[in-house]
Amino acid sequence: MRTVSVGADGARGTIAAMTTDTTGTAARDGEPRRGGPADSPFVRACRREPGPHTPVWFMRQAGRSLPEYREIRASVPMLESCRRPELVTEITLQPVRRHGVDAAILFSDIVVPVAAAGIDLDIVPGTGPVVAEPVRTAADVERISPIGRDEVSYVDEAVRQLVVELGDTPLIGFAGAPFTLASYLVEGGPSRTHAKTKALMYGDPELWHALCARLAEVTLSFLRVQIDAGVSAVQLFDSWAGALSEADYRRFVLPHSTYVLGGLADAGVPRIHFGVGTGELLGAMGEAGADVVGVDWRTPLDVATRRIGSDKAVQGNLDPTVLLAPWPVVEAEVRRIVEQGRAAPGHVFNLGHGVLPETDPDVLTRVVALVHELSARPAR
Ligand code: CP3
Repeated sequence: MRTVSVGADGARGTIAAMTTDTTGTAARDGEPRRGGPADSPFVRACRREPGPHTPVWFMRQAGRSLPEYREIRASVPMLESCRRPELVTEITLQPVRRHGVDAAILFSDIVVPVAAAGIDLDIVPGTGPVVAEPVRTAADVERISPIGRDEVSYVDEAVRQLVVELGDTPLIGFAGAPFTLASYLVEGGPSRTHAKTKALMYGDPELWHALCARLAEVTLSFLRVQIDAGVSAVQLFDSWAGALSEADYRRFVLPHSTYVLGGLADAGVPRIHFGVGTGELLGAMGEAGADVVGVDWRTPLDVATRRIGSDKAVQGNLDPTVLLAPWPVVEAEVRRIVEQGRAAPGHVFNLGHGVLPETDPDVLTRVVALVHELSARPAR
């Protein structure tokens, strides 16, 4: 068993890494090797190709529901942990080892590239991102600088290390979409109503578009760094887009998210586009250039598929609070979602939003096994 040495604020620990046979998993002559991550059940479902079973991963799978995560994070602040490749690697691998999920998601945060672009911010435990000086003027927008690999070299390094450790298991890279990032920057922190954000959007559309154009550039660069380093798919999180009507979404947000996803059209990896409360926006979010549209628990997957169209896969959509219910309730809901997912041309099983910290990790492991069992298809 290979080991990775992890230094945690003075206390050096050693964490066992996954033992992975990495021989021959690399692409040869630009062609994905059969059996490598590009041929995994997850990537196949994203591409609407048949696979051995419905793949499963969980948004926020690398995080506070796991005791082994809490142990590592006890002495390291959130942003610092995102900037230490050996910690990023270890935390990203934890849910893969424990649950047998079909994909890993890079341990990072949507505000990491924004901080790298020069915005002074922190991630406050129990609150989320907090911005020292909220962005509300043209001069504030100018403070957001372009980024490249040098500004996020720790992400480049972590992804390269992870691709080796993960072998055939695909790694998902991610970034925040312009609207959701703008909301944190304009509000200065989390907001229920997004009132200041919308006031800027309606009151000064020119400044709004200038802000979102900057953020789209940062996001696109951040995703390109991850793709160049070897991620097998990317997810664009527009978590708070559901706060908008479809008309406002199309006018104020869609062009910027399209810039990001369209900019990756020839990158050769599937693009997932996700938001919460976006039942009315699913068609538009697909139009932004996604291969897979994330659906929350409010819209059944068969209904979502009719709204999105048959040229895209869907991802979702178990209500994360259902995982706190007795197992027979969880099982019934998983069965319903696997069944409704059959209406889609490709289905990646996930939650409708992130894992809640109070979730029993053993329930997540059981869900993975159940989805695999219910969806197992005979070998071709
Ligand atoms: O497993 C994974 O999904 C990978 C890691 C990941 C984190 N943040 C780690 C994290 C991902 C994909 C994100 C994305 C993210 N960050 C989003 C989009 C997804 C979503 O949930 O809608 C958003 C909106 C953020 C901003 C943010 N960062 C919030 C709302 C919070 C939680 C605040 C809290 O403490 O309740 C954070 C902090 C954060 N990001 C944590 C983790 C594991 C918790 C920090 C801790 O452990 O102390």
